[in-house]
Amino acid sequence: MSADKSVAENMLWGGRFKGGQDPLMVKYNESLPYDRIFWREDIAGSIAFARANKNAGILTEQEFRDIQLGFDQISQEWLTETFVVKPTDEDIHTANERRLGEIIGKETGGKLHTGRSRNEQVATDMRLWLREELRKIEGYLVDLMKCSIMRAERETEYLMPGYTHLQKAQPVKWSHWILSHTTAWSYELERLREVIKRVNRSPLGCGALAGNPFGINRNDMAKELGFDGLIMNSMNAVADRDFVLETMQWSVSLMVKISRWAEDLIVYSTLEYGFVNLADAYSTGSSLMPQKKNADSLELLRGKSGRVIGQMVGLATTLKGLPTTYNKDLQESVEPMLDNIKTVGDSLQIATGVLATLTLNGEKMHAALAPEMLATEIADYLVRKGVPFREGHHISGRVVALAEELGVPMDQLTNEQIKQVDSRLEDDVRRCFDYHRAVELKDAVGGTSKRAVLEQVRAMKELLLGITA
Ligand code: ARG
Repeated sequence: MSADKSVAENMLWGGRFKGGQDPLMVKYNESLPYDRIFWREDIAGSIAFARANKNAGILTEQEFRDIQLGFDQISQEWLTETFVVKPTDEDIHTANERRLGEIIGKETGGKLHTGRSRNEQVATDMRLWLREELRKIEGYLVDLMKCSIMRAERETEYLMPGYTHLQKAQPVKWSHWILSHTTAWSYELERLREVIKRVNRSPLGCGALAGNPFGINRNDMAKELGFDGLIMNSMNAVADRDFVLETMQWSVSLMVKISRWAEDLIVYSTLEYGFVNLADAYSTGSSLMPQKKNADSLELLRGKSGRVIGQMVGLATTLKGLPTTYNKDLQESVEPMLDNIKTVGDSLQIATGVLATLTLNGEKMHAALAPEMLATEIADYLVRKGVPFREGHHISGRVVALAEELGVPMDQLTNEQIKQVDSRLEDDVRRCFDYHRAVELKDAVGGTSKRAVLEQVRAMKELLLGITA
């Protein structure tokens, strides 16, 4: 492998290097192909750093102004996609600094990095970028929840089987099913807001690891960049990728929930169930079977949760053996972070689209209810007559067994047949064979009665209003 001598020596850090670098090593090491996404943050951080250095007496007023003007031009170049990358541009930090020197001259340009390290720079850029992205994601999650709450409030009349073990268990309102997931998402909203707080702390002014020797005012820089506070230990500031790991842990928590929601809807949209119909916009066909309409959007939501879990485990593995403080391994946190954020942001928007456009088939939902799902109602009926629940449960079980024996649905048994099982099952036991009554009886807080469901809607609305206020 022939080494390209010019590359290493011309790197910004090239002073002590004589031999060249293996060309593959150059590629292997460089992060500019993906960290160029931080160009804005890198420039904002550099200007804040230069201003603080001016205030500390390291740069003159004029030098600071030159640096600022130079970065204005570099911003324009990135915006208009005219920034020309050089082979020595290892990452976004070196690329911007190299270009600054070209524009304003090496004399002043060479002063920008006084007391600064790329170790603090990359941490600053990543935190600034991630903060903005997480705020967008918070908005997408709120949109999904709003859509969900709206449907839950509007569609309270639909009943469907509630399942445990994917077996028909008890009738519930469709709204209650929706809100079960919305409730799960509400925890994610709370968690996300916590995560953002910890992402939004400033590592700038910590140097390579030991701190800044020129009395730089870290608080001023943090304020200028919109950080909520400082990382109080310089070694931690450059070593830390917890803010990425915690974001990914959050993504896992969210996507696992989105995945379970998607799984429910995949099942409910099959011909066998037919409770919901996915809009064409979120379905695809089969290349071979003309009748097929597949729930690809939901399957991808389920599938992408696996990718997100992998990214979290991958980063935790990268971090777990690292000695303090900065090690190049940390660069491996960038690409998965970018993909993680894109995956989660897109997934939330797709989920909202699916939910906003799916149509319900109330008849199919109702037809899926089975009288046996009312067996608990018979036990509850007996409880109201003073029978201990365990005994009522047993008696109700015998009614189910009798219906099975006679090969009829439970609600087709005659009053006499039912009474034969236990004389306390009087004619009014037929009231139990009413799905709506069964649903309305579950009226305690958190239940599936109309009142209890609307109460949940109110609680969710309050949570969301709290966010926008
Ligand atoms: N591109 C590097 C990263 O993403 C920037 C920090 C480089 N620091 C260093 N000491 N080599 O981590």
